[in-house]
Amino acid sequence: MTTGLNRRQALALTAGGLAVCAAPGLLAQEGPSLHELARTKGMRFGTAVGMGRPGTLTGAFSDPAYRAIVQRECGILVHENALKWYVLRPDEETYFFTPADTLVDFATENGLAVRGHTLLWNREEFSPAWVNNYDFGSRPASEAERLVREHIATVVAHYRGRITSWDVINETIDPRTGRLRETSLTRHLGENIVDIAFDATREADPGGELVYNDYMSWEAGHEMHQEGVLRLLEGMRERGVPIDALGVQSHIGSGNFDESTGFDTARDEHWRGFLDGVTGLDLDLLITEFDVHDKNLPYDIESRDTAVADLARRYLDLMFSYPQTKDVLCWGLCDRYSWLQNLWPRSDGEAKRPTPFDADYRPKPLYDAIAAAFQAAAPR
Ligand code: XIL
Repeated sequence: MTTGLNRRQALALTAGGLAVCAAPGLLAQEGPSLHELARTKGMRFGTAVGMGRPGTLTGAFSDPAYRAIVQRECGILVHENALKWYVLRPDEETYFFTPADTLVDFATENGLAVRGHTLLWNREEFSPAWVNNYDFGSRPASEAERLVREHIATVVAHYRGRITSWDVINETIDPRTGRLRETSLTRHLGENIVDIAFDATREADPGGELVYNDYMSWEAGHEMHQEGVLRLLEGMRERGVPIDALGVQSHIGSGNFDESTGFDTARDEHWRGFLDGVTGLDLDLLITEFDVHDKNLPYDIESRDTAVADLARRYLDLMFSYPQTKDVLCWGLCDRYSWLQNLWPRSDGEAKRPTPFDADYRPKPLYDAIAAAFQAAAPR
């Protein structure tokens, strides 16, 4: 096992008066971090970080032991929620940058890159009520366009030079139809919303990496979603809309979004067909939200962790066989803070184990699987 803090990091942690004893697994080993392993292949490794209230599942940042893992293992970070409209834009007048700034400052101090998630999560259930109920007036299309452009120009300018990659739009394709989801914005703008959002982002930061992010998955039951996303990307290419990459969320494992999907129902062939289509459009691939849902696995921890690690390895090997895959971000590094603890409970009510570190900050077989996949990857 090659994890833990080196002596310098351990000393820094102690000197800072932080709760070293809360993280027994951390002090045990030395060795290359996941990001260092990724770097040797021209890739990067990182995680989402929750900036929520201390003690909540999304409040990982306030935990010094979690920050120590992030400092040791990561080269790139993303906000779990802090840049979403429902946090950033509590009302039309306000841009509440404080939590998001805190993470960007931390990244700058530690020499870490930052991704921006997301300029537009185009789903009604994740939009603030003031957007869903907005009065677009007598020229609704131009007012909707103004709202989107103003938001993007403001946020991207605020982080220019510090956030270098943007999930411009998140999850705008409805997996049940393969078509655009209906929101108060798309009602007036239709598919034009995509062109507007990407155009506004490019204008605000000509050097930024522009990404469309979604959860169409490797596993069975996502064919319609994949077709819809591919159609969207093809259309963007045809219209000359600026886009650099597809963000593949990669929440793999037990049917996160479709209760009928079990564990390990991957369809490599079909998935490769989709990825070939995407890369054929000259787009890069990013693994933006990796975790392995163990909801449907039996309780036994050893075999559960092994099954999670095996599935991860198969998935990462497949993804890394595409030289276009350069970044891997986990959706949280420690089981204690995984978003999956709050959703889709296990039938035995037990805690889940979807991330590389257990609830006591000890590295798990999933950590080793990620390390091994980086080691096996061809350089890019
Ligand atoms: C999730 C967060 O992890 C939760 O804390 C929040 O309550 C809801 O959103 N796909 C995405 C992420 O693009 O933004 C989602 O994050 C997880 C699924």
